[in-house]
Amino acid sequence: MIETQQHLREEFDAYVAADKKIEPKDWMPDAYRKTLIRQISQHAHSEIVGMLPEGKWITRAPSLQRKAILLAKVQDEAGHGLYLYSAAETLGVDRADLVDDLLSGKAKYSSIFNYPSLTWADIGAIGWLVDGAAIMNQVPLCRCSYGPYARAMTRVCKEESFHQRQGYSIMMQLMKGTDAQKEMAQDALNRWWWPSLMMFGPSDSESMHSSQNMKWNIKRFSNDELRQRMVDMTVPQAECIGLKMPDPDLKWNEEKGGHDFGEIDWTEFYDVIAGNGICNKERLEDRNKAHDDGEWVRDAAVAYSEKRNANT
Ligand code: 3HC
Repeated sequence: MIETQQHLREEFDAYVAADKKIEPKDWMPDAYRKTLIRQISQHAHSEIVGMLPEGKWITRAPSLQRKAILLAKVQDEAGHGLYLYSAAETLGVDRADLVDDLLSGKAKYSSIFNYPSLTWADIGAIGWLVDGAAIMNQVPLCRCSYGPYARAMTRVCKEESFHQRQGYSIMMQLMKGTDAQKEMAQDALNRWWWPSLMMFGPSDSESMHSSQNMKWNIKRFSNDELRQRMVDMTVPQAECIGLKMPDPDLKWNEEKGGHDFGEIDWTEFYDVIAGNGICNKERLEDRNKAHDDGEWVRDAAVAYSEKRNANT
């Protein structure tokens, strides 16, 4: 028996090392399955909770066009969540159990969604920075070793690009506006910049999953590598529309070929993921209310499918 397990493990490692895709019916180490369920479910929860800060501005969008764009974006996020719950289910978990873990506060979702969306400029900053960070992190996931996750990401990334562009266009428009609008845009950047950098996870030295997940080709780049790319991509975008980056330590480092930047407040990061962020309580309350309010829809769908199956 031991020999078989050893042989299966060696085959699996060789398959992943050859950059091939692991599919649901393939043998995989329990730890590989477990870490994928962990990451994919948290990713799905992040998409669903991520609808909340933007959802609050759909009725307050400044024009019909902006309302239509924001509606489309929030609907996309819902679809991303359902896509990712489906990808998680291919690993043998039940979506209802994953959702229960979210609603009970047991499951993690991205820290970024525990910050309040205070002004319309926040909707610009969220699209530009949060979806920008999400793209930075999700494009490499299109090459993840687990087939269903990689394929889900390919679809998701196409829509994320629209999300990021519409956010940046809001910021651009505000920066061409009145002084008050410019101040609103700068205030949003000031409040969303550092939490967006926290989306990439703890520093590499603190990351407990990175080394193994990089060996398994789940993670293609480290947390700090992707964070650095985000900084280097965003700084010129901010400067181009006249926004000032809220980091006095930010400066170009010719030798490194990238920007040096200030220290992230990791106390804040761990505080937020421990549930003590500004909006953690509100987000879970909103999700629990939406889940309760949607019970009749779920019951009706089950009743319909049972009736239809009974008639076939
Ligand atoms: N928020 C909450 N928890 C976080 C976090 C964050 N920003 N960053 C890290 N963590 C957690 C990890 O989940 C892990 O906790 P766990 O063991 O209980 O799961 C712990 O902190 C240690 O972090 P690691 O770096 O060791 O964990 P990972 O290797 O999993 O890396 C990650 C963290 C980079 C977020 C990785 O999980 C990942 O790439 N996930 C997929 C992408 C994703 O979930 N993005 C979130 C945003 S989705 C989004 O923005 C949608 C867009 O449409 C708006």
